[in-house]
Amino acid sequence: MTTRRPAVFLSVKSAPLKILKKIFGVLLLLLVAIQFFRPVKNQGRQEYTQDFLHQYQAPPEISDMLKVACYDCHSNNTRYPWYANIQPVAWYLTNHIRDGKKDLNFDEFGSYTPKRQQHKLEEIQSQVKKGKMPLASYTLIHADARLTVAQRDTLVHWIDGLLQH
Ligand code: HEC
Repeated sequence: MTTRRPAVFLSVKSAPLKILKKIFGVLLLLLVAIQFFRPVKNQGRQEYTQDFLHQYQAPPEISDMLKVACYDCHSNNTRYPWYANIQPVAWYLTNHIRDGKKDLNFDEFGSYTPKRQQHKLEEIQSQVKKGKMPLASYTLIHADARLTVAQRDTLVHWIDGLLQH
C-alpha cells in the first residue's frame, strides 16, 4: 500500500514561501508607487551675485575645486546623476543637499554677516583638513571630487590669506 503524504503537510511547508512572495509583491508595488513622488530638484536658474567665488575672487584652481567637490551640496545648483531620478535615491540626495545648504550655501555666502562668513571660512578649513568634507558617501561615487593632500593644502592656505584681512 502506497502512503501518500497528507495534503496538509504540503500546504504547511509552502506557507512561508507564499508569504515571501506576497511580501515581495508588495515591496515591488511600493517601489513603483514611490517613483511618482519626486522631490523638487535643486536647480536655481538665476545668477547669484553674492556667490562666494565671485566675492573672494577665487583663482581658477580654487573655484574649480569647490565647484567639483562642494557645489553639488552647498549651492543652489546640483549636477544630478542619472540615478537621482530613482526613488528612494532622490530623497537621500535631497536630504543631503538640504542639510548641506542649510549649513553653508556658497551661492549666498555674501549675504551672511561678516562674522558668520569668517566662522564658515574657518569651518571649511577644519572640515577639509580633517577630511570630513566632501562627504565620503559622495566621493565614493564621484571620484573627481576626492581632494588630494596638495589640493587641501592649497585651499587651506588660500583661506588663511582671506582670514588675515
Ligand atoms: C554630498 C554632499 C556634500 C558635499 C559634496 C559636501 N558637503 Fe559639506 N556638508 C554636507 C552636509 C549634509 C552637511 C551638514 C552636516 C553633516 O551632515 O555633516 C555639511 C556640512 C559642511 C560644513 C559645516 C558647516 C557648519 O558651519 O557647521 C562645512 C564647512 C562644509 N560642509 C564644507 C564643505 C566643503 C568645503 C566641501 C567641498 C570640499 C563640502 N562640504 C562638500 C554635505 C556635503
